[in-house]
Amino acid sequence: MPFIIAIDGPAASGKGTIARALADRFGFHHLDTGLLYRATGAKGGDPVAAAHSLNAEDLARPDLRSAEAGQAASRIAAIPDVREALVAFQHRFAAQDPGAVLDGRDIGTVICPDAAVKLYVVASDEVRAARRAAELGADPQEMLAQLRERDLRDSQRATAPLRPAEDAVVLDTSTLSIDDAVARAVAEVLRVRGD
Ligand code: CDP
Ligand code: CDP
Repeated sequence: MPFIIAIDGPAASGKGTIARALADRFGFHHLDTGLLYRATGAKGGDPVAAAHSLNAEDLARPDLRSAEAGQAASRIAAIPDVREALVAFQHRFAAQDPGAVLDGRDIGTVICPDAAVKLYVVASDEVRAARRAAELGADPQEMLAQLRERDLRDSQRATAPLRPAEDAVVLDTSTLSIDDAVARAVAEVLRVRGD
């Protein structure tokens, strides 16, 4: 059975950084599921059709990391048929040997509820806004308002809302360096594997 690591949490909490580092460390595949929603939103037109017809080219668009693409993703991500259209791809990805790390909003709760390790990564709103603003060269105050709006929409939607799985380990990265955050995540994986 492949070893699955599910990482969820709000915007810019550090999920992707930790997910990539774990995949490197353990030789696992990594899927940033946010990209699926960003690419679907960026395609325009009917979002359900867009989700069904995603291809590698769509996922490689250079503009997917922008704040606008994040907001568009969050709007189409509330549509149940869009989410449904993306499930099979995520399940196939998670089934790869020797293991996979998926990061997003609903991995531990909906996509991979039987994941061996579930992390819920958080950080204070201000820290997350500062990190994302630095990445995008944007204004931290504006970023704070945008992240809050997106987190609110993601946690209040009826289908697969952002929330920690009951058995998730919460990792607060507000005051952690990247190395320290990754070290804690690695320790959790090693604990579960019994290494
Ligand atoms: O994937 P998610 O949106 O949750 O966040 P990320 O892209 O992994 O991290 C957002 C930014 O915060 C990146 O620039 C990371 O380098 C930075 N970061 C950090 O400064 N300290 C951490 N402990 C984790 C991430
Ligand atoms: O990197 P960041 O945390 O800012 O965003 P992302 O992970 O790329 O996700 C963009 C948007 O896609 C989120 O705000 C969610 O609305 C949606 N999303 C989702 O609904 N479910 C997922 N598994 C991943 C992303």
